[in-house]
Amino acid sequence: MNESLTHNVTEAFGACADARTKEIVTALVRHLHAFAREVNLTHDEWRQGIEFLTATGKKCDGIRQEFILLSDTLGLSIVLDDINQHHEEAATESSLLGPFYRDGVKESGFGANIAQSEGEPVFFHGAVRDATSGKPVANALIEVWQTAPNGMYEGQDPDQPEGNLRGRFRTNADGAYAFHSIKPTSYPIPTDGPVGQMLVATGRHPMRPAHIHFRIDAPGYAQLTTALYSADDPYVNSDAVFGVKPSLVIEYAPRENGYDVARDFTLIAKERA
Ligand code: BEZ
Ligand code: FE
Repeated sequence: MNESLTHNVTEAFGACADARTKEIVTALVRHLHAFAREVNLTHDEWRQGIEFLTATGKKCDGIRQEFILLSDTLGLSIVLDDINQHHEEAATESSLLGPFYRDGVKESGFGANIAQSEGEPVFFHGAVRDATSGKPVANALIEVWQTAPNGMYEGQDPDQPEGNLRGRFRTNADGAYAFHSIKPTSYPIPTDGPVGQMLVATGRHPMRPAHIHFRIDAPGYAQLTTALYSADDPYVNSDAVFGVKPSLVIEYAPRENGYDVARDFTLIAKERA
């Protein structure tokens, strides 16, 4: 084995003026070479890999991002989340944004109902707090989105009304938020592309456990992108994109005519982020 090959290639980047670019590209070369050597990559396998990446690129357009889906299913996205999130114990853990976030949803009042689909009613409520002091954060913007009982987000499904199961709220002076919705459902990530073929070829299922996404912004605080996962979902321990964290798994407590979810979110002040 000719180890000097790897050295020669990293040396070729020796004149790179930007230190961070140089660090990234030389580490990439070292790990790529080590990977090819570890698996004794053949020319045929290299070509299959090139064809897979080419097909992944061809599947991308303004809406569909197959490379992000590949990153998600290989666990790279959640590693990135782990590297960049704050491991402050009192802070709410982050999770994947996913491809179904939509900007421009109209703001609703405290306690509004975001569901225009039939389903099991849920009352979500709680407060946004400072992770260090526990003090309420007033006027925080909370954005939520989830699937309908057919496992599709509004935007994927022409039969759902505009803005269905998407909400945008502000916390009140006590940092409190509240809204009505329905219980989310598990659903498959898009499987009609190379990532779907990869899952089939490797014996993996495409399902995400039922969840509701939250994105929270407040002046002076780092943005929080997270989700709450249903404890009773059959896929809660085998998420196709590895987004589930134990602290984000919730129980739906039965209440009259549905369920109740009481959940606070804690944010990190920007100067600590
Ligand atoms: C989602 O939760 O919306 C999602 C995340 C990653 C890949 C596909 C979907
Ligand atoms: Fe989702």
